[in-house]
Amino acid sequence: MDMKPIGPMMREHRLIERMIAAMRRELERIDDSGETDPVFVESAVDFFRTYGDRTHHGKEEEIYFRDLANKDLEPGLRKTMEELIEEHVYARGKVRALREANERYASGERDALGEITSLLADLVEFYPVHIEKEDKRFFFPTQEYFSREEQALMLAEFERFDAQMIHSKYMEVVSRYEEL
Ligand SMILES: [Fe+2]
Ligand SMILES: [Fe+2]
Repeated sequence: MDMKPIGPMMREHRLIERMIAAMRRELERIDDSGETDPVFVESAVDFFRTYGDRTHHGKEEEIYFRDLANKDLEPGLRKTMEELIEEHVYARGKVRALREANERYASGERDALGEITSLLADLVEFYPVHIEKEDKRFFFPTQEYFSREEQALMLAEFERFDAQMIHSKYMEVVSRYEEL
């Protein structure tokens, strides 16, 4: 079991990296074939919305960064935290644009392929850099601001946060069909 909250956040980075690798392979397929698989792109969008953003950035921003903001954080680390939040906004915007371009592509607008390709490339380029910044330059120095007890409480909050995620995800799925 993880003793520290940065454990689960770093483990989630490893899954995000695997999705990024799959997207890199999709970019190669697009290059070879001149077409993309909209079902794959839709899965990638769902991964980044539900897992990357709500589950992962959610724990970072709504729990870890929230608690860190109350500490007397060294200015360099505070600046990095602000950059990380801006980077999450950037990623969210790219994923939203990818979803829209993919919907157009799936409904027959083949012109949307160029946009899909460039958005996939943006995300493939962005995430490894963002993750490295957190893993190598942010999580280790910032966890020092928390006592063992604070870390244990935060881990428990992470678990509660994750536990409601699957329910909220599928409530959203059902609600979407109720609106149709
Ligand atoms: Fe992040
Ligand atoms: Fe992260």
